[in-house]
Amino acid sequence: MKSLVILISGRGSNMQALLEAGFPIEHITVISNNPGATGLEIAQQYGAKTIVLDHRLYPDRQTFDKALAERIDTCQPKLIALAGFMRILSDSFVQRYQGRLMNIHPSLLPAFPGLGTHARVLQEGVKIHGCTAHFVTSQLDHGPIVIQAAIPVLPNDTESTLAARVLQHEHRIYPQAVQWFMDDRIRLSNNYVEVLDARVDEIALYSPGLPE
Ligand code: GAR
Repeated sequence: MKSLVILISGRGSNMQALLEAGFPIEHITVISNNPGATGLEIAQQYGAKTIVLDHRLYPDRQTFDKALAERIDTCQPKLIALAGFMRILSDSFVQRYQGRLMNIHPSLLPAFPGLGTHARVLQEGVKIHGCTAHFVTSQLDHGPIVIQAAIPVLPNDTESTLAARVLQHEHRIYPQAVQWFMDDRIRLSNNYVEVLDARVDEIALYSPGLPE
């Protein structure tokens, strides 16, 4: 039976979207580097196993990442999904899980990597914004793109209205990306992701398509 590990640092709304997706997965483990992450309580409500690994108790990034990898490996996950996991991962960690480490990011990558994406989008006067589910590489918020959702930036948008609208689409595309991966419908070659039989949706602009 397949196993999934979700890494979080805070609120955990993307994690919740993954837990609500009802994947046919026997074991879901949620690991947080932040003991105060509100997502931990939500994970428990959904019956997921939770682990706290406080990065502040480790002398450096390498040591923390090694401890994290040890915990992950005991779960033998098919996929590790970063869901608001706000830590830079070491190269050795990323390489260890290459091709099965996914992230959700609130921008149309490769535009606007890093933090504060919505504020920067408004500042730049960008007209189309969105979110991206992608495989993780050692470059921050960069890597083979699985699915993106694009939305218009409206004239009266604020950082919070934009964040809320993008988040709705994060909650839609991330479960879809994970589902495709779990169903072995993703072919990854170099920097390109092919999704087998992705269909086009009519409500918003998604690429590749989502089931109707
Ligand atoms: C989400 O918007 C996610 O895309 C973003 O953090 C938020 C976490 O919210 N991740 C990144 O910026 C990664 N670079 P959540 O805890 O409610 O899912």
